[in-house]
Amino acid sequence: MRAAVLNEARSPMTIDELTVADPGPGEALVKVIAAGVCHSDLHFIEGTYPARMPTVLGHEVAGVVQEVGPGVTNVQAGNRVIIGFVQPCGHCEFCDAGRPNLCAVGGGVRDLRNDPALLRGDDPVTAMTNVGGFAELSLTPASGLLKIPDAVGMDVAALVGCSVMTGYGAVVNTAKVEPGTTVAVIGTGGVGLNIIQAARLAGARRIIAVDIAEHKLQYARDFGATDGVDATAGDPVQQVHELTGGGVDYAFEAIGLKQTAEQTYGMARRGGTAVIVGMVPPADQIEVSGMIWLEEKTLKGSFYGSGRFHTDMPRILDLYLAGKLDLEGLVSKRFPLDEINEAFDALRSNEVARSVLEIGAE
Ligand SMILES: NC(=O)c1ccc[n+]([C@@H]2O[C@H](COP(=O)([O-])OP(=O)(O)OC[C@H]3O[C@@H](n4cnc5c(N)ncnc54)[C@H](O)[C@@H]3O)[C@@H](O)[C@H]2O)c1
Ligand SMILES: [Zn+2]
Ligand SMILES: [Zn+2]
Repeated sequence: MRAAVLNEARSPMTIDELTVADPGPGEALVKVIAAGVCHSDLHFIEGTYPARMPTVLGHEVAGVVQEVGPGVTNVQAGNRVIIGFVQPCGHCEFCDAGRPNLCAVGGGVRDLRNDPALLRGDDPVTAMTNVGGFAELSLTPASGLLKIPDAVGMDVAALVGCSVMTGYGAVVNTAKVEPGTTVAVIGTGGVGLNIIQAARLAGARRIIAVDIAEHKLQYARDFGATDGVDATAGDPVQQVHELTGGGVDYAFEAIGLKQTAEQTYGMARRGGTAVIVGMVPPADQIEVSGMIWLEEKTLKGSFYGSGRFHTDMPRILDLYLAGKLDLEGLVSKRFPLDEINEAFDALRSNEVARSVLEIGAE
């Protein structure tokens, strides 16, 4: 099968022929139809986060199950699915506590070092988050798969696999935004736009979008932002304080920078909550005032929207089918797999809301 392989950081991906193993216990082989181009992939391309190379990135994916391995009961060949980038084990302390996104065990049993899922010639190739969606096929633990209705397009389903679940979940699960409150979102890309539309759905009375690109602020208004702050036109924290008279109830960071993470904390009012969604580099320290105790602020991380996938993803799809979440509007460009490097150039230059790679046909 063909796949886009990242051979080293800060280099273009190459389209290579790989062999994929047959599905083992608990695994499914999925024909990839659509894969979103997410900034999390870009962190690995740019080397902000480490990855074992060579690797196939791609974690925002939808496809059709081709074959399942022994013991798989939740899906069967022919099912249309979202491929989740966390594959919960279902029985660890976190899974049991209703926090499958934090599952530390995982649903895979394959010994990836001695029995790799992917080979290029005789050499092993790793797959991002056991998905490796920038490829014609994904061999993945089946516990991460979620069946989707025929009415949902594959491009939309792919986005639910990361940016929509992440943004919606940060609002609904992590922050639990209440009606009538105020929200600020720094970074209005694929994830930020979903934070904005979920905050609108949750009944926030004011949603302030903060970005450095004017056309991104326009997208943000289309998705429900009530105000736009141009971060290049003076201190964004001060601008948000002026707009709100002292800060917002909930502030979200959706870029992945120390500076904007600290700005998010600064935008939260007394008693407010700052939620870090962006992948801030692992070595960076987020610094906040020692007066956190007096101001009673909360600083929280949010991973995969604190998602309970089998509850949240069907709800998200129903909200979309009912016209309450705009998922089609997120897709501003489509590329074939061969143009993956151009797709990442478009993300890097902040040109698109989200782009989708159209990899296979149903
Ligand atoms: N927590 C999770 O589970 C999770 C899941 C998915 C993505 N992420 C992370 O979320 C972040 C956003 O992902 P995305 O795909 O939406 O990215 P994106 O590139 O689509 O969007 C980033 C936005 O930030 C804006 N921006 C850049 N620098 C800025 C600054 N200094 N001030 C204000 N705006 C600025 C850009 O114009 C762009 O609109 C990334 O770090 C990604 O890795 C986290
Ligand atoms: Zn992602
Ligand atoms: Zn678990």
